[in-house]
Amino acid sequence: MPTTTTPVDQLTPAEAVAELARLAEEIARHDRAYYQADAPTVSDAEYDELRRRNAAIEARFPELIRADSPSRRVGAAPVEGFGKVRHARPMLSLDNAFSDDDLREFVGRVRRFLGLPEDEAVDLVAEPKIDGLSISLRYENGTFALGATRGDGAEGEDVTANLRTLRDLPQRLAGPVPRVLEVRGEVYMRRADFLRMNEQRAQAGEKTLFANPRNAAAGSLRQLDPAITAQRPLSLFCYALGEVSEAVADTHWDFLARLREWGFKVNDRIRRCRGVDEALAFYHALGEDRAQLPYDIDGVVYKVNRFDWQARLGQVSRSPRWATAHKFPAEQARTILRQIDVSVGRTGALTPFAILEPVTVGGVVVSRATLHNEDEIARKDFREGDTVIIQRAGDVIPQVVAVVAEKRPPDAQPWQPKDECPVCHSHAVKPEGEAIRRCTGGLTCDAQVVERLIHFASRNAFDIEGLGEKNAEFLYRAGRVRSPADIFRLEDRHGDWLREQPGWGARSAQKLFDAIRARRSIGLPRFIYALGIRQVGEATARLLALNYHSLDAWRAAMLAATNRQAEEWQHLTSIDQIGPSVAGDIADFFAETHNLAAIADLVEQLERVNDFSAPATAGSPIAGKTVVFTGTLQTLSRDEAKARAQSLGAKVAGSVSAKTDYVVAGTDAGSKLAKARDLGVVVLTEEEWLDLIGR
Ligand code: IVH
Repeated sequence: MPTTTTPVDQLTPAEAVAELARLAEEIARHDRAYYQADAPTVSDAEYDELRRRNAAIEARFPELIRADSPSRRVGAAPVEGFGKVRHARPMLSLDNAFSDDDLREFVGRVRRFLGLPEDEAVDLVAEPKIDGLSISLRYENGTFALGATRGDGAEGEDVTANLRTLRDLPQRLAGPVPRVLEVRGEVYMRRADFLRMNEQRAQAGEKTLFANPRNAAAGSLRQLDPAITAQRPLSLFCYALGEVSEAVADTHWDFLARLREWGFKVNDRIRRCRGVDEALAFYHALGEDRAQLPYDIDGVVYKVNRFDWQARLGQVSRSPRWATAHKFPAEQARTILRQIDVSVGRTGALTPFAILEPVTVGGVVVSRATLHNEDEIARKDFREGDTVIIQRAGDVIPQVVAVVAEKRPPDAQPWQPKDECPVCHSHAVKPEGEAIRRCTGGLTCDAQVVERLIHFASRNAFDIEGLGEKNAEFLYRAGRVRSPADIFRLEDRHGDWLREQPGWGARSAQKLFDAIRARRSIGLPRFIYALGIRQVGEATARLLALNYHSLDAWRAAMLAATNRQAEEWQHLTSIDQIGPSVAGDIADFFAETHNLAAIADLVEQLERVNDFSAPATAGSPIAGKTVVFTGTLQTLSRDEAKARAQSLGAKVAGSVSAKTDYVVAGTDAGSKLAKARDLGVVVLTEEEWLDLIGR
């Protein structure tokens, strides 16, 4: 803190020189502590006071302003904690199976996709699903070169230095190794280590204890100072392959054996299962042993053993078709349902939720839980005052599953939904046959606007760190941000105001402005997803971006598609996986002038929206072409054919139009073939198609 407290108006020029030098040095030191070590050494208020004093002295002695003055720096350039790492191969997530039947269905899908004969067995490798955080390890010529977190799957954080401190991580691999080898695995904390560490933290007077081993592992790995990570008891299991310069095995099972030879830790409960029944037996046996294991697991991961089959199965959206996760049943608890409230989502959906007597479930205190929708409340007859059973499954929002009937208070009344939005009081309607009641207030409804802003800034949309629920709501209520475009005007119009807000200060405000500035250039799929159009999730946004390439083309086409007679509507609905219902929601969105105005306003604020086309299809003869499959194919299932075409950069459509480049006709092709002939579209036999794509 300042050693001199001489009021600014009493400073002599000589004192001012000394004071400005001292302030420049001190502020820079705090900036480094804050940005680089994530460990502020002064409170925001003290820091702001230093900056204010600096500014006041400079105002009085403008001729003394230093070249390195803190006021000349546009905030302190935030040193992002970790470098970014683009994954050579994306880090995928897994689809979930919730029951034995789901797993049978998974294997059925694999069989159909691969077109396997009845008597051909599908070997699965079953592995405990470790509850930690996934990481990617890159080895070059057998030496550990780079380690990264999963991030959003495409890009993670460089945590190489931290990973080097793990005992389980081999720095050099034993034996012959491919030149480039990327191995994926899970960093986790053993339960005993976790408890011991928390105990030590408590004794040392640390304010924060970790909630569970997974949080502890994540918090420990993401330390800016590797010396801290080194003191944390982290463990590692490896279980998957990333980029590799040459083939390492024919099957996943053999790959795991090689991992062990190279020196990686591989879980010893992993088993090879011949068929579904063995896999399910593994699941149930592991479930029995779960509490005895020294680490937390939340289910089983099954992987198709043969690598050649994995390659053919490929992936859909962000999960492989060759693997699935089978979760263990959720942990449950009993508590009292105090009150039923209703929240409003960004599309106006009203969702009832329960306010509960707080209770611990699976190590986490729960005081709210979703009730899904009013039909569900009626069906299960949840009433205020009831004793209920709630459950948590992994990261999923807790839910109320059942009423304990014998504990119902005699005066409990059935819950009655209101036909009014709890936030804006507009009429709330529930169309016949639909489960969801919606507020009709649209953009006049505060809740919807705030939820849209939160969605807009969320991780898979514009990904603006620091604009989560709390801050979005705050900026909206203060009247400073009412639309996505306002976010980008925030610094110019309300920068000074924000810096003065309690709990903000110059540094936090600057961090937010920097995060916003970094997003003035954005990819088309994120842009589309961020708009929050009903039913347009990430996968659909990507599909749209892939089909229309540029914002201008997409916007013009969607505008035209608001006319259901237009060719653009035909084209939109012909895109494989976009049905009339999704297309209808998109068209409805574009039919609203206020949405068009909001987009135009936003685009004005952005530097650019980057065009999008299918990655890694250079040299593909069908990149960008639109293909329709019809009839029965002989060598490939329809799903595999579509997936191959898409992976080569083609767009697969469900119906033939003038925009179709190729129709691939199998046997018994019907009306689509006729239409193709009518329109003069190139028709290929299956053979010709395989020749074209080079098999
Ligand atoms: S395989 C493409 N195997 O589960 C397959 N994942 O829900 C990539 N996980 O992000 C994952 N244990 O963090 C695989 N034995 C295991 C796993 C496992 C835990 C985690 C991993 C992944 C998540 C997917």
